[in-house]
This record gives sequence, C-alpha cells and structure tokens, in this order.
Amino acid sequence: MRNRGAKSLVGLTRREALLAAVAAPAMAGNLGAWPIGPDLRAAARVSNRFFGAAVQADQLRHDAPFREAVMGQCDCLTPELELKWAAVQPVAARFDFARMDALAGFARHHGKRLHGHTLLWHRSIPGWARAAIAETRDWAIIHRFFAAVIARYDGIVDYWDVVNEPIEIGDSPTHLRRSPFLDAFGLDYVRRALDSARALSPKGRLLINEYGIEYADLASESRRGALLALIDRLRQQGVPLDGIGIQAHLDLQKGQLDQAVFARFLQDLADRNLLVLITELDVREADPRLPWAERDEQVAGAVRAFLDVALDQAAVRGVTTWGFSDRYSWLNDDGRGVMQPGRNRGLPFDAALRPKPFVQAIATALRRVPYIVPPPVEIVPLQVDSMFDTTPPP
Ligand code: G3I
Repeated sequence: MRNRGAKSLVGLTRREALLAAVAAPAMAGNLGAWPIGPDLRAAARVSNRFFGAAVQADQLRHDAPFREAVMGQCDCLTPELELKWAAVQPVAARFDFARMDALAGFARHHGKRLHGHTLLWHRSIPGWARAAIAETRDWAIIHRFFAAVIARYDGIVDYWDVVNEPIEIGDSPTHLRRSPFLDAFGLDYVRRALDSARALSPKGRLLINEYGIEYADLASESRRGALLALIDRLRQQGVPLDGIGIQAHLDLQKGQLDQAVFARFLQDLADRNLLVLITELDVREADPRLPWAERDEQVAGAVRAFLDVALDQAAVRGVTTWGFSDRYSWLNDDGRGVMQPGRNRGLPFDAALRPKPFVQAIATALRRVPYIVPPPVEIVPLQVDSMFDTTPPP
C-alpha cells in the first residue's frame, strides 16, 4: 500500500504544528472554537466523498462548542440513538419523534444530510414489539415502523441501515444471527426488510451494516464469508440491496490490519456492484497508560492503515466516525451513562475538541485518492420542510 510519507510525531505538518503553537494560548479560554486542523468536509470534497459523525441531539443542543465543531467538519450526521426503534416507538400506539426531529431540523438548518441508522437491529427492539412479533409473527408490525420513519425522514436521509448486524457465526445454518426477527420470520427476514424499505423509499440507498469484518483473524474471515454469501443469496433473488456499511470499530489489541485481506474484501463488494460506506469508525486502545502523544499516534496509525485501503477503493463513498470527540464516546461510557473522556482516545477530536493526529489521517487519506466521478444526481425535494423548527437548538 502507499507510503504516506514522513510525519511529525503527532501527525501534523510543520506549518500546522507552528500554527497550533501560536494559537494555543489565545484559545486557552475557548477551546470550543479551536481553529487549527484540517477541514474534513473540504478534504472529502476533493474525492467527491463525504465525512460524517454519529452524534446525539442532546449533545448538539446543550454543548455549543461541540455543536460548532461538528457543524464545521461534518457533511452528514448519524443519529447515535434517536432513530432506533425503541427510541421512536416506545409503545405500540405512539411514535415519539421529538429527539429525532430536533436532530433532523438541526441538520436541515445547517445543510447537512443524515444517515438512517437503523431500521432493524436486534438490540433496539422495544419490549412491546418483541412480544408482539413473537406472538403474531406479523410483518405488518415492522412495516408500520419502517413506514413511519421513512416517510418522515427520507428526504434528508441518503442511506438507510435497513438491517444492522445480521451476522453471527454458528447461530443458524447460514450464520444469520439468532434474533426475534429470525425466530419469527425465518431466514427470509432480511429480504423482507429490504423489500419493505424499497417499497417505502424508491430512491434511498439501502444498506446492510455490519461489524467484525475488517481484520484477518479467523472470526472476521468467517463473518466476511457469511456476509458475502448472504449478499449473493439476496442478489440471486433480486432483492434491492445497494450497499454495505462497514462499521470499522478498530481495535489496537487485534494488532495491525492486514491491508491485502481488507482490500480483497472491498473488491469482493465492489465486484458485486455494491457501494460501501465506512459507518462507525473509531479505535479501541490497547494501553491507556502510555503518554497521550504516543496513544494518539498509535490510534492515527491504525486509522491511516485502514483508510489507505478503504479509500483506494472507488466503491467507498464516505467515512463516518462513531462519535466526534472523546468528550462523548461509547468507548468512554462507564456503563451507567457517565462519560470518562480520558479513558479511550479513539475519536478524531480530543475531549477539549482539539484535533488529534486521527484528523490528519482522515484528511490525508481523503485528499490523496482519485476523484470519484459522481453518478448523475436527481435532486429529490425534501419532504419534511414544514415539520421542523428551523431555528438551531439553544
Ligand atoms: O442516557 C442514559 C442514562 O441516562 C442512563 O443512566 C444509562 C443507564 O444505562 O443509560 C443511558 O443510555 C444509554 C445510551 O447509550 C447513552 O449513550 C443506553 O442505556 C445505552 O443502551 C446506549 O447505548 C448505545 C447503543 O448503541 C445501544 O443503542 C450507544 O450509546 C451507541 O453508541 C451504540 O451504538 C452502536 C450502533 O448503534 C451499532 N454498532 C455498534 C455501536 C456501538 O455499540
């Protein structure tokens, strides 16, 4: 793979390092608006891709510096929680779109797109639906949820994670995960989900989003094989599947990425005429006792090795990180909903919103790849205009 060339310890160019040093004292009282660091939106534009991050509506509402930084760097926002089934339909008779509407209104006001995460996920089924599905095996329960969500947000969502994390080796003969969906509807539920989504969203890009498919270990190898087999089965049946989301929760404990193996997998997807998104990029660290600079360089190294390969592949259309700053990361959640921002430094910006070498790694990878010729675009009018308050959250 390409050699990225020499870098300073923290991955900044000399000029950026100098600018950062000059700016640091001036910014000391206002870390929220840190002015230095690559512009990820601009970098993504160079190759006609996009950069995005998963965020929560409450974070944007209550944290102005965070909001400003996210808006400055992202083209697309993924709702970390707000669109999940348990969040939008906590009881059968009531949809609660308040938080998702806040995020959508906010995105729209700032000219951002949304990533539709997620429709079917075994970990976000409301209790009532779990019971109802098991009892009635009635697909209409799922279709109604799809219909409500897609009708409301399709105009601002380009990509839908229609099925999230369907693979679990050994759970079933075809390695589809054992879930309430599999139990009630059998191996055919993925097809039904994609068909339902297509009926409701003729133009949306429909994805299967999966994790654990990046490394070369046996488990990942099996998961890749099972996913490709699922794709082939769906394709043979003419099922509307447009692409694959690769979550990319990288893990330093897993050692170095085997770039050739990962490149082969991406090519396997491209050969099937699928588009690919990197949907949940972040890095779990191996040794939090090391000095910060060293940790950040290790994290950036893993990102560089990954994106080098990912962005060599023209089928890859965009990169989204799972969170934006270490201030809010599922890897820093203590399990009781309390953030411990120093625990893991696996996101592009640190807890003070300063760009880390991770940012430089994304920007460099995005800028140095060939421009992707865009497919002809039909402008789809936003269907949700009147529904959102367009004033930014206070
Ligand atoms: O906010 C409440 C808090 O008030 C309460 O005290 C605490 C008690 O557990 O819960 C807090 O809510 C938690 C929420 O995260 C806060 O961020 C939920 O319990 C917890 O289930 C939720 O976890 C989210 C998880 O998906 C399940 O929805 C994570 O934030 C989110 O990062 C994670 O995202 C998933 C993707 O959707 C799919 N891929 C993997 C990725 C990481 O697990």
